[in-house]
Amino acid sequence: MPVTLVVGGQWGDEGKAKIIDYLARDVDFVVRYQGGANAGHTVVVGTEKFAFHQVPSGILYPKVTCVLGGGMVIDPLALVAEIDGIVVRGVDVRGRILVSSQAHLVMPYHVMLDCDSEDRRAQGAIGTTRKGIAPAYADKARREGIRMADLMRTPARLRDLVADHVRENNKILKARGMKPLSPTKVAKGILAARARLMPLIADTRPVLWDAVAVGRRVLCEGAQGSLLDIDHGTYPYVTSSSCTAGGAAIGTGLPPSAFERIVGIYKAYCTRVGNGPFPTEEKGEVGKRLRELGHEYGTTTGRARRCGWFDAVAARTVVKINGMTDIALTKLDVLDTFASVKVCHAYRIGQRTLDVFPADARDVESVVPTYETRPGWKEATTGRRIEDLPRSAVDYIRHLESLVSCPIHLVSLGPERSAMVRIPRGPTPVLGA
Ligand code: GDP
Ligand code: IMO
Ligand code: MG
Repeated sequence: MPVTLVVGGQWGDEGKAKIIDYLARDVDFVVRYQGGANAGHTVVVGTEKFAFHQVPSGILYPKVTCVLGGGMVIDPLALVAEIDGIVVRGVDVRGRILVSSQAHLVMPYHVMLDCDSEDRRAQGAIGTTRKGIAPAYADKARREGIRMADLMRTPARLRDLVADHVRENNKILKARGMKPLSPTKVAKGILAARARLMPLIADTRPVLWDAVAVGRRVLCEGAQGSLLDIDHGTYPYVTSSSCTAGGAAIGTGLPPSAFERIVGIYKAYCTRVGNGPFPTEEKGEVGKRLRELGHEYGTTTGRARRCGWFDAVAARTVVKINGMTDIALTKLDVLDTFASVKVCHAYRIGQRTLDVFPADARDVESVVPTYETRPGWKEATTGRRIEDLPRSAVDYIRHLESLVSCPIHLVSLGPERSAMVRIPRGPTPVLGA
């Protein structure tokens, strides 16, 4: 059975969790493949709102097994707290969470180093979530990380390993003017997490290979967004993992050929939290209106998200990087009250016109977006069926499809699970026919 992958098409917070939750109804496994507690994934079911950070967004379905893949960097204490928080709300997670033995640990010194780097950068700060992500991935790349597999060692060996790492990192903390950590205290915390997480740790690769081989349905969940990808994003204003489709093979152990459906998630406009170039950002009234109507405040950090119009140049570039097969467009309802909506279809840089998102962030800083203005629909869309959507809303969807060269198969019209319309596939163009 081929694997479906859900990947963020913009700068994160596109509503990936809402779409994962929708698609997870029909799957057996939901697998996160990168990132860590920097993610904030919101699922709304009736009056209940869940914010997931490290646990995959499929956890609300009793038959779904959730896998934290090897490409993740996991804060073990935060994971235990998150699982407890989910259980308290009545979700039975027993036997339903697996943690890859290949995943790396985010340690307390990673969090301290992340905060210190941000404070030192001052004006040039990345605006990270301060969850220790970059230092943890840096240790992985330097081959000095601690992996989940290390939690399987005897308590005495693990204590020594953690204490050694803390002592090494204390040298860095001290050199940067920070208080060193107690090796004993950190080891105690990790040993407590070990007791809870050990039953969940496994080599998850054969689990997934076997699942695919016998036709079980696997859904992979991207965190962050393609424009935050360490390679393809607006470097250095990016996160430290491969959020794009390529990262899913690396972060799960499933072969690239397994990914048959790659669903890109895009908001009907754009947002970004943290610093870095954002060509279609609206710093005035429009941005404020999008923020308030879309409740654009970070799920993880509570920061106000920067807002702007849909950027088709960035979107079509991201379609290509990921090989997206279809798109889920979210938060269309946020545009319901606008008399007109704008879409950026090209950039200008000097005398040149660009239709590809530049590879270098400095070029992205200097582009001037070219907009088309389209009529709004000035009608509420939440709760409507696909065939009842206002004409201008349908035209907007169709127009985005043509600008980014990828079909839109799902449209989300509200935060709630049921606020979703599916655009039927098939030869007859039902929508806007
Ligand atoms: P993720 O990180 O991509 O999963 O997205 P977040 O959960 O960080 O942010 C998306 C926010 O938009 C959440 O508060 C969702 O509940 C909300 N949301 C998702 N889809 C829709 C939608 O179609 N309309 C509205 N109004 N809100 C939505
Ligand atoms: P989800 O999965 C939006 C941003 C941060 C910062 C940059 C680097 O909810 O879409 P990091 O802490 O990763 O080193 O920060 O990336 N960022 C996100 N922005 N949504 C996210 O996750 C993000 N995770 C990281 O704001 O600009
Ligand atoms: Mg989010």
